[in-house]
Amino acid sequence: MLSTHPTDVQNSGLRYLSSSSISPDQRSPNQELLPLTAKANSRDSLEIGGCDVKTLVEQFGSPLYIVDEVTLRTACRQYRDALTHYYQGESLVLYASKAWSCLAVCAIVHAEGLGVDVVSGGELYTALHSGVSTDKIYFHGNNKSNAELDLAIEVGCTIVVDNWLELNTLATLAEEREGIRIMLRLTPGIECHTHEYIRTGHLDSKFGFDPNVLEDVFALISKHPKLNCIGLHAHIGSQIFESQPHKDLAGVLVDFLSKASQYNLPIQELNVGGGLGICYTESDDPPSIDQWVKGVCEAVIAACEQQKLPLPKLMCEPGRSLIGSSCVTAYTVGSRKEIPQIRTYLAVDGGMSDNPRPITYQSEYRALVANRMSAPLTETLTIAGKHCESGDILLKEAQLPKSEPGDILVVMGTGAYNYSMASNYNRLPRPAAVLVKEGEADLIIRRETYQDLIRLDHLPVGLALAED
Ligand code: LLP
Repeated sequence: MLSTHPTDVQNSGLRYLSSSSISPDQRSPNQELLPLTAKANSRDSLEIGGCDVKTLVEQFGSPLYIVDEVTLRTACRQYRDALTHYYQGESLVLYASKAWSCLAVCAIVHAEGLGVDVVSGGELYTALHSGVSTDKIYFHGNNKSNAELDLAIEVGCTIVVDNWLELNTLATLAEEREGIRIMLRLTPGIECHTHEYIRTGHLDSKFGFDPNVLEDVFALISKHPKLNCIGLHAHIGSQIFESQPHKDLAGVLVDFLSKASQYNLPIQELNVGGGLGICYTESDDPPSIDQWVKGVCEAVIAACEQQKLPLPKLMCEPGRSLIGSSCVTAYTVGSRKEIPQIRTYLAVDGGMSDNPRPITYQSEYRALVANRMSAPLTETLTIAGKHCESGDILLKEAQLPKSEPGDILVVMGTGAYNYSMASNYNRLPRPAAVLVKEGEADLIIRRETYQDLIRLDHLPVGLALAED
């Protein structure tokens, strides 16, 4: 029995469910707060992928990352289909696996026909072990080690060269080792309105070649014909709500492409990076995946027509907008501290170790009580994590029903840069992750144990525990 009337939707957790009459696969996941399959079931509980969230927590423990397979696959298909629809040339979507690198997520995006962008030997290893083919792996990074470059060359993925040291190293290696495929990362000089820490396209950035030295770069590459330079890349930032910066970027990259053609370099790929934002709160207003891709395609086509260049193979590499909205984190509510006239803290069993984004970027999230979806929102609470750190606050002002210890608090939009940035601060074991679909739940990351926490520790002989 629901405890409220339908008219109370706006004053309950039900308000976060989509009220759109558009079928779920037509809705752009990045414009939703909850995964596409989310609904309230007859027990007044949140259900995702046909699984009751409270039951999932009972089965897999708390906190728990819950990934909705339908939402992730829908986002992949929308990127892929929009590129095919709006772009007449070849195209490829890469998943920026830094958003969440694990075997199951890489395997799903691969099954959807996407390639994968990796930024370390570890992400490369994960992508390889999930079955992604090496011709669809692109290796980024501003300071790749020699061991990482060796691995990349050995497996045959494309290396996105970031700086002179790397370029010179690869030019030398190309003399002895066949088939080194590279792209060049450029700093296009485009600013965008996002958090200062995640702006990368402006000139003062640690990433990529300054466009002013581009002609020197092309000249060097043209002297090393064994170095197979196939494309140009740029990434201007993350959680971007405007379409214009990426359209401008497309124009700038096509200009660079035209410069490359003067050096007879066989450059046919153009990668505009990632960056499309998602909804973390109801006031966030990103373009849909389809609108974003359309804007980029039109800008590339127009710039190529103007420069009289054939259409390059167009690539983009979203992370957040592919995985972000497909996941929620379920916590169990614990202690409460009321400070009259100031605030009430409600503590959960995780915090900055499983979601470091609020403390790192002051990111905002929304939350609901999953086991009482229609209960009226009667309290404004500050949701605190359990870490020994005052700043360990997940939500500053959450509108929630009166909640009790044992309630399940769900934080939405936690698919991107949560698990991948998680830590063991205070020696908290990292949570498990489950993949849900049509009422089935599969473990994709097992919960860490205390034993996992000490598995890399080494106790020198002199410190070995004395026996009484
Ligand atoms: N390509 C490159 C080269 C990147 O550096 C990034 C993100 C992406 C693609 C994917 O961008 P996305 O589509 O996810 O916006 N930890 C921060 C985000 C850092 C993004 C770093 N680069 C956060 O939690 O907001």
